[in-house]
Amino acid sequence: MKKDILTVGNEHVGAVQSINKDLVTKALNMRCSSYLAHIKSKLLTETIFEIDNSKKDLCKINEKITNQRDTIAKQKLELEKAHKQLHKEIAERRKLETQLLHSQKMESLGTLAGGIAHEFNNILTFTQGYTELLMNKHIEGSDEWKLLKQIYAGGERAVNLVGQILMFSSFDPTQLKPVDLNTEVNEGLIMVKAGLPENVEIQSALLEGCAYIMADTSLIHQMILNLCINAYQAMKGNTGILKVNLDRLEKCPQDLCMENKSCFKLTVEDNGCGIPEEDQRRIFDPFFTTKGVGKGIGLGLAVVHGIVEKHQGKIIVESKINVGTTVTVFLPILATDGDQKPEELV
Ligand SMILES: Nc1ncnc2c1ncn2[C@@H]1O[C@H](COP(=O)(O)OP(=O)(O)OP(=O)(O)O)[C@@H](O)[C@H]1O
Ligand SMILES: [Mg+2]
Repeated sequence: MKKDILTVGNEHVGAVQSINKDLVTKALNMRCSSYLAHIKSKLLTETIFEIDNSKKDLCKINEKITNQRDTIAKQKLELEKAHKQLHKEIAERRKLETQLLHSQKMESLGTLAGGIAHEFNNILTFTQGYTELLMNKHIEGSDEWKLLKQIYAGGERAVNLVGQILMFSSFDPTQLKPVDLNTEVNEGLIMVKAGLPENVEIQSALLEGCAYIMADTSLIHQMILNLCINAYQAMKGNTGILKVNLDRLEKCPQDLCMENKSCFKLTVEDNGCGIPEEDQRRIFDPFFTTKGVGKGIGLGLAVVHGIVEKHQGKIIVESKINVGTTVTVFLPILATDGDQKPEELV
């Protein structure tokens, strides 16, 4: 029987009987195409599946990238916050270091000044005493008597100054007692009014009711006097307005480090010449003055600073050239129970 070689596509399938060749070829072709279709659809399904999987992976990666971006943004914010906080803490620390240095300087100067003032006071007692004796030996109003009177008056000024230094350096904390700040500021202002010319207008706004603090009344008066005299002197003989205000704050300004306690805020404001910026950091230094020989000693604000510190308070000065100066004193409130009187709190 005759046989033919059967070929499907390029492949030789085998030898088949000639009469069956067409039939076998057809059958094989049919199987091949259905097999190919099967392969195609299988491949397609697999490809689609793989694409789907890749899409899912891509989504996951995208999600991860978004999450990481969020985390990075959050960390950046936290870093910025920490950076700011660090800056604030460094500034705070520097401020505290400056304050500490200033307090130490004041303390040693206080001790030194106290010692000198004490000696000086003894010498003055003699010179004033002998001047008085000499004055008694001359007829009142005579040339000699007038000269001696000048010496005596100069000595009196020295006694006053020495007294101020002594009072400041020999401060005794047991002298503090509950007092009404309203009353004390008022009394201080009465003394100020008596000494100021009429072209200076004093405007005061104090608190209604009592404002108790632990204080030494004479030091509070001295503080008011020193601040008001400075304000008046800054007006340089011109007409001026001196404003004295007393307020109550439920919380002290945070940067003052007064443990956020409630406090009284006393401001003494003038529309005088103002303080140049380069002088502002020196005004509390003892013996710093811009008033010239014989006019200022430079002790007023150093004494006020000491008084405020001794009352556990804080003081700040804000000033603008040719606009004026505001001195603000914060003093801790003495907690009272309703209408208690200061003497009941001792
Ligand atoms: N309200 C103010 N306006 C302008 N400058 C002021 C004011 N208060 C203080 N100063 C400046 O601060 C300096 C120091 O003041 P402080 O009261 O310590 O000393 P003084 O007034 O010069 O002298 P003293 O008070 O001992 O008589 C002053 O010389 C002045 O330059
Ligand atoms: Mg002064």
